[in-house]
Amino acid sequence: MDIKIVPLPAEKMKKKITDESQLGFGKILTDRMLMVEWKAGQGWCDARIQPYAPFVLDPASLVFHYAQEIFEGLKAYKWADGRVAMFRPEMNARRFNQSGDRLCMPPIPEELFLKGIEQLVALEREWIPTSPETSLYIRPTMIAVDPVLGIKPADHYYFYVILSPVGPYYAAGFNPVNIMVEDHYVRAVPGGTGEAKTGGNYASSLKAGLEAKKKGYDQVLWLDGRQQRYIEEVGAMNMFFAYGKKIVTAPLNGSILSGVTRDSVLKLAPTLGYEVEERPLEINDLMADIRSGKITEAFGSGTAAVITPVGKLCYKEECLQLSAGKVGEVTQHLYDSLTGIQTGRIADTFGWVRFV
Ligand code: COI
Repeated sequence: MDIKIVPLPAEKMKKKITDESQLGFGKILTDRMLMVEWKAGQGWCDARIQPYAPFVLDPASLVFHYAQEIFEGLKAYKWADGRVAMFRPEMNARRFNQSGDRLCMPPIPEELFLKGIEQLVALEREWIPTSPETSLYIRPTMIAVDPVLGIKPADHYYFYVILSPVGPYYAAGFNPVNIMVEDHYVRAVPGGTGEAKTGGNYASSLKAGLEAKKKGYDQVLWLDGRQQRYIEEVGAMNMFFAYGKKIVTAPLNGSILSGVTRDSVLKLAPTLGYEVEERPLEINDLMADIRSGKITEAFGSGTAAVITPVGKLCYKEECLQLSAGKVGEVTQHLYDSLTGIQTGRIADTFGWVRFV
């Protein structure tokens, strides 16, 4: 399908930020967006890259009432030689359609997803920041727009992609965060939507997140929804624990998001001399392993969060420090290696980079 380019009038172009240390995360949106529609009986149609602008949507639109929505997060980097590289976008295309299947939304052809994003990023390349810890964050989204109050899969969807030049997800940058293990609320249950990247998972996590913030924590670590015994994920990140040179993470059990960065760590770490293991991590065992020093480091992984060191993990009354509250060696090694591949400082032997 051809993608129409709607001209962007000069007066609609936004002023770009010059001090990249002030970017923050997701606060600035670029000049253009990709839009494609899907209509029952017609399929995908009317693909266009148009000036970034608000939508006019009927207040009855299904997405507002029953949250039929999915999204993705991926990044593009401008390399020192001027080339623009996206990191594993095929993985996002695949996961987008998996999320869509769970939410009864039509699959988007992978080629259209990738071609649309590539063309949009190419047009917006001047927006890609180049300072350390910055990138262009890409947010593909699909929403149900039929104006009807009956609960049913929609007959009309918008697939759209917006772009944001970003700094680190956490305001403190590449520094340890403090995490509270959530022992009251749950994020997902077996058979639920925990594995899908859908807004409802994030909306339902807000209350626990706010309560944790009030107590001085950055994030909550979710336990499984059935027994509240096994660790799952941190909403914005999957979690890894280093037992010396062995790196362990929870297995994908259907209620954990299948992180692209998680998968990258599992593939990258063995090439750097680490052993990796996916196994259920029971919270009391985990705390005992931190207490005894068997666990030497913990870190989160995510597109927005990249590799984020954990300084403190707290469960019920007990708070344990990891790597003396500093960035651990393994965490630093993985961070440097992963971001090295993403930004072209280290050769990509995995075929993860896709140039725009
Ligand atoms: C991402 O890492 O891309 C996400 O979607 C997580 C979100 C909390 C920003």
